[in-house]
Amino acid sequence: MVSQPFPDGFVWGAATSSFQIEGACQADGRGESIWDRFANQPGRIKDGSHGEPACDHYHRFREDIALMKELGLGAYRFSIAWPRILPGGSGQVNPKGLDFYEQLVDGLLAAGIAPHVTLYHWDLPQALEDGGGWPQRSTAEAFVELAEAVSQRLGDRVQHWMTHNEPWCTTVLGYQTGDHAPGRKNFQQALAAIHHVHLSHGWAVEVLRKNSPGARIGTTHILSPVVPASASEADQRAARERDGTFNRWFLDPIFKGAYPQDVIALFHRAKRIPKPELWFVKRGDLEAIRAPLDFLGINYYSRHIVRSHEIPEAANEKRQIEPLPDKTDIGWEIYPQGLTEGLVALQREYALPCIYITENGAAFNMGPDAEGRVVDTPRIEFLRGHLEALHAAIQRGVPVKGYFVWSLMDNFEWTHGYTQRFGIVWVDFKTQRRILKDSAKFYQQVIRQNGC
Ligand code: FCB
Repeated sequence: MVSQPFPDGFVWGAATSSFQIEGACQADGRGESIWDRFANQPGRIKDGSHGEPACDHYHRFREDIALMKELGLGAYRFSIAWPRILPGGSGQVNPKGLDFYEQLVDGLLAAGIAPHVTLYHWDLPQALEDGGGWPQRSTAEAFVELAEAVSQRLGDRVQHWMTHNEPWCTTVLGYQTGDHAPGRKNFQQALAAIHHVHLSHGWAVEVLRKNSPGARIGTTHILSPVVPASASEADQRAARERDGTFNRWFLDPIFKGAYPQDVIALFHRAKRIPKPELWFVKRGDLEAIRAPLDFLGINYYSRHIVRSHEIPEAANEKRQIEPLPDKTDIGWEIYPQGLTEGLVALQREYALPCIYITENGAAFNMGPDAEGRVVDTPRIEFLRGHLEALHAAIQRGVPVKGYFVWSLMDNFEWTHGYTQRFGIVWVDFKTQRRILKDSAKFYQQVIRQNGC
């Protein structure tokens, strides 16, 4: 019995990204990426691992397409490794890199699976980082070359494009906190990086429209609804500020053509920027950034509960969310309602085109039992809860057209290396054997019934 049927034509997919699954980091002329360099630095990755071999998808993509077909996927979201296409970041195109993605796209289409392509999921060519990386405007110009090369080759067959995946992670984790590649810690550089990512998005939209007529073009952001830890004024203010720096700084330029004034004032007051003007914004940039889109991709994992630093923890015991939430193995709170709340709030704040949930999923690390079966019941519960929450948002009028589970298969989870498993397909990284987990069978059923 399907209690939650989704709208007709709803797209059911699964997502991955290049560095996390491909391996073959030196194959066929691929250049070095910032994640290759970063992962090779001692202490950066929890288990000391690297994107080599990951799932060796570069050599096994046909087998992986067969798995997708078995699951009944209608769509597959993957990203392009920039250093395969332009090993030096810009300039000389490597035809073998394009050949790989062309074979992948053709294989998907032959299997009846729609390719949803992300141009950038964090693996910047190291050569561009050596030239200054995203804080430099020239990196946005190089991104246009990537968009050109890829869409010239695939624009006739790919009907869904995303320019970026989670610009917040690219820029804040990469250039402000230094937790992700390239590992820099400089607030002002991070701010410039954000602008150049936005700009590269706007410029690439134009290129994609030219080379892929009729395709649907969007971008993907992470959505985390922000909740104050208490009703105190200080916590509420802190929550508003976090919403500004985390969500609005990324969505306002794209949908409103402006950076939020309250956040500019906040950065200025906190002496994080020298003057209220943003020195990296040039005339015409914001119009370019605001290029009309056909959809917004949303990645949802959890919410933020924000406590003001002005209140010492001990002074306010009530600032605890009760009951203590369940968490996934990576330590993220399980909060499905946040998907409904976040989407409804988004819809209220912005004039949105339609939405795809481009990532949602959970790390649970159990492996095969004695019979070789992976009983990942908590992941099934996680997915069921989030699909119900998504359904509720659709009932409330949010135009969601599709859902992509993160991830098709266990993979290289950035700084966690291979210690966190998000896949609905289990991967033995030594033998490259794949096993459909129970959650994959659950998802297969969801797809068959168009609901759960
Ligand atoms: C998202 C990333 C994706 C994966 C999941 C768990 O933020 O886009 O690559 O790491 O988190």
